[in-house]
Amino acid sequence: MSKILITDDEAYISTQLKERLTMMGHEVVGRASSGESSIEMAKNLCPDLVLMDIVMPGKLDGIAAAEIIKKEQDIPVLFMTGYADDQLIERAKQVEPYGYILKPFQEKEIKASIEIALHKKEMERLLYKSEKKYRELVNNIPGVVFTGYKNWSIDFIDNKIEALTGHTMKDFNSRKLKWLDIIFKDDIEPMQKIFTKALKSDKTYIREYRITSKNGEKNWLQQRARIICDSQGEILSVTGILFDISNLKRMEKEKEKLEARLQQVQRMESIGTLAGGVAHEFNNILAIIIPNTELAIDDVPDRSLAKECLDEIRSASLRASNVVQQMLSFAHKDLTERQPVKLAPIIKDCLRLVQTSIPGTIEISQDLSCEFDTVLADPTRISQVIMNLCPNAAQAMSEHGGVLKVTLKNVEVENQDEELDVKPGRYVKLTVSDTGHGIQPEIIDRIFDPYFTTKEVGKGTGMGLSVVHGIVKNCRGTITVHSEPGKGSVFEVLLPVIEAETKQKVKEPEALPTGSERILFVDDEQSLVKVVRRILERLGYEVETKTNPDEALDLFRSGPDRFDLVITDMTMPQMTGKRLVKEILNIRADMPIILCTGFHEKISEENAGELGIKALVFKPFAARDFSITVRNVLDEK
Ligand SMILES: Nc1ncnc2c1ncn2[C@@H]1O[C@H](COP(=O)(O)OP(=O)(O)OP(=O)(O)O)[C@@H](O)[C@H]1O
Ligand SMILES: [Mg+2]
Repeated sequence: MSKILITDDEAYISTQLKERLTMMGHEVVGRASSGESSIEMAKNLCPDLVLMDIVMPGKLDGIAAAEIIKKEQDIPVLFMTGYADDQLIERAKQVEPYGYILKPFQEKEIKASIEIALHKKEMERLLYKSEKKYRELVNNIPGVVFTGYKNWSIDFIDNKIEALTGHTMKDFNSRKLKWLDIIFKDDIEPMQKIFTKALKSDKTYIREYRITSKNGEKNWLQQRARIICDSQGEILSVTGILFDISNLKRMEKEKEKLEARLQQVQRMESIGTLAGGVAHEFNNILAIIIPNTELAIDDVPDRSLAKECLDEIRSASLRASNVVQQMLSFAHKDLTERQPVKLAPIIKDCLRLVQTSIPGTIEISQDLSCEFDTVLADPTRISQVIMNLCPNAAQAMSEHGGVLKVTLKNVEVENQDEELDVKPGRYVKLTVSDTGHGIQPEIIDRIFDPYFTTKEVGKGTGMGLSVVHGIVKNCRGTITVHSEPGKGSVFEVLLPVIEAETKQKVKEPEALPTGSERILFVDDEQSLVKVVRRILERLGYEVETKTNPDEALDLFRSGPDRFDLVITDMTMPQMTGKRLVKEILNIRADMPIILCTGFHEKISEENAGELGIKALVFKPFAARDFSITVRNVLDEK
């Protein structure tokens, strides 16, 4: 049973109609006699259907009233009229009525029209419900649903597209804008390849590409879609979902960067091991050449050709020793003494030197005012850092000039920084930047490699930055570089700050100190034993030597008081220096001992103290340093 509102100005017709409708089983909830009253009653009675006469007295005729009822309440209206001129029908059509019955009407006709109208309304309701369900589904999917055509035009796209691209659904639906218009040009070809491949297989594909949003932002999208074809295989449309994967891509990039950095660190480690090995071999050879040459120089007449030759050998060997030092620095095996040093004064001195060697077109700007600049380092190594970074910067600006800027600043590292590989704490940041030609991205990962250079043969060895890298690492710091080709480079060195007073270096006396004490020297290298014996004997000492530590121990045991000092090598095939030291101290606890080590033997001054060793000597040693250490240890007794 449906509730019906009758609207007709003729009471006779409306009465008759009511009777008939009631007989048909409907409920007539009201009878209006004008457009205005029909609107009012529809509002109050909420009928399922309004039967509406068109021509009625009053301001609103049936069509005008139907329009309002439809708009305000969406109740279906069925027109009934005695007039059927074209103009009227045309106007009536505009309100999309559910039917149109001409008076006088047959009962069958009314019955059918009412049923059709009510059925139509029910269909509309169901359609609306189902549409609502799918609209909600589309709206809740965390992606943008679309249907498009092979020519890149879009048929349907959901309104989340605006958040994704800045363009509205309307922009695409009106075909003003094609999807192709916002895609990165470089990505189009690969996208087409994926499409063609999908067409030949199961017609589904996933592709990732970049688009430019309305505000110019670049976004990464992932498109998952299916190609719909007709029975002949002709493409009808493409349907799918678009996802914003910009964050994912950003994270992937970060990960790649971290991995590249890790790889670089690993590569540097392995090159370091190799360089360290070579340096070790070389070091042992120099340990024999240098002191022997020094001894020979003392023995030949001053103005002889032999003296000149020996001087040449000596200076060449010292140069070789420098190269070894560089390699050791790079391999982090540098055992030069670290002490608290203030950075600012050292950097200032270096910059004065740099100033004299660079063209006038390069301006140096410095800001070294920083509260904490004391670090644990070897001052000469700090100079080396500056004297490598600044000339590199100057060379990059040699053609067009520019500004070389050196600054010091304190920074706090709060959390362990994985990328920088530094522990939390207070650091001083040394920045050396230039406005030169910059570094190409293809080579930036290699600039810290030893012997990597882009300079002409003879202009650079490529060791500069690798040495800097080693020095910085040795000081538990880090070095990073940022560069934009054509705009310049920025090198940043972070060094941990220490809170300690800087100590003044003691001046060394000029003449070699002598003595007459008895010394036992142990080293498995025959040539080194020979040269050390010569040096010590020349200084007045009584020397006994052994190339086998077991024999040395036997000798010592047979008369522990025969010696005033024992000097032993660290690494020997039969017994390590550490063991020998322990055995000797077991026999005579107050025996002064000096330990000689190469760079690779991990032992520090603190360690040495714990072992009961009085001093450490690093190979290759010059006669001067060696004799001073011997004298100091003997005097300490
Ligand atoms: N400030 C900079 N601007 C541009 N390129 C640089 C800069 N610093 C270093 N480079 C690049 O890194 C390479 C390696 O530098 P590194 O200091 O290790 O060696 P080098 O300067 O070539 O030679 P050496 O320092 O031994 O004389 C350089 O050849 C250059 O290509
Ligand atoms: Mg250099």
